Amino acid sequence: MSKTYRIAPSILSANFAKLGQEIDDVISSGTDLVHFDVMDNHYVPNLTIGPLVCEAIKETAKRVGGIIDVHLMVEPVDRIIPDFAKAGANIITFHPEASKHIDRSLAMVRDLGCKSGLVFNPATPLHYLDHVMDKVDMVLLMSVNPGFGGQKFIPETLNKLKLARTKIDAYMKATGREIWLEVDGGVNAMNIAEIAKAGADTFVAGNAIFTQGKESDKNRYNTIVGELRASLATVK
Ligand code: DX5
Ligand code: ZN
Repeated sequence: MSKTYRIAPSILSANFAKLGQEIDDVISSGTDLVHFDVMDNHYVPNLTIGPLVCEAIKETAKRVGGIIDVHLMVEPVDRIIPDFAKAGANIITFHPEASKHIDRSLAMVRDLGCKSGLVFNPATPLHYLDHVMDKVDMVLLMSVNPGFGGQKFIPETLNKLKLARTKIDAYMKATGREIWLEVDGGVNAMNIAEIAKAGADTFVAGNAIFTQGKESDKNRYNTIVGELRASLATVK
C-alpha cells in the first residue's frame, strides 16, 4: 500500500491581494491543506494574519476541498483559539512554550470541533508529547526557526522526525488512531523525499510553491506540485 502524503502550501508566501484566487489555484493544482501562519510580533518577531482573514478564505477553501491548517505562533493561545474555530479552521496547532496549560489548550481545540496539534521549534524536545498523545491529532516539527518564510531547512530535523515517527507509530499501533506528522520550513522538491523518508507525511511549502509561474496562468502551480509529488513517489 502506498503512503498518503499531504502537501500544505503556506499562504504566507502567496499574493495577499488575490488570496482567494491563490487558494483556489494552489489547491486545484493537487495540494491538500491551506497552511495558515498566524504571527503576533511577540512570540515570533513578525506580524501576519488573524481570524478575519481565515473567515474570508473559509468558503473558497471549502469549495476547493482545502483543509485549513492554522499554525498559531502567538502567546498566549487560549484567548484566540475559539476565534479561529469560528472562522473555519479545521486544524489548530500551537507551540507548547506559548501555553501555560498545554493539556487544557489541546482539549479546547477539540471541544470546538477542530483537530488539535503541537508544534515543536528546532530546539524544543519532543517530551511535551508524552502525556498528551491522546489529545493530539497532528505533530508539527519546525525545520526553521518560526517567524519568516523562505528560510533554509535545518538538517537536524531529519533525526527529530525519525524520533517523532517512532513515537507516533507506537501510539498508532497501540490505539489504532492516526496522528499526522507535519514538517514546516525550507521544504522543496530537492529535499522532500529525504524528509518523507525520515517519517513526515504532511509537508508545508511556502516559497517553493508560490514563487513559481506567471500570475495570469491558473495552472502555474501544477509544475512545482508535480515535482513535489514525483519526488515523493520515489520514497519506498
Ligand atoms: C515559518 C512558517 C512557515 C513558513 C514556511 O514561521 O511557520 O509555515 O512560512 O515557508 P517556507 O516553505 O518558505 O519555508
Ligand atoms: Zn507554519
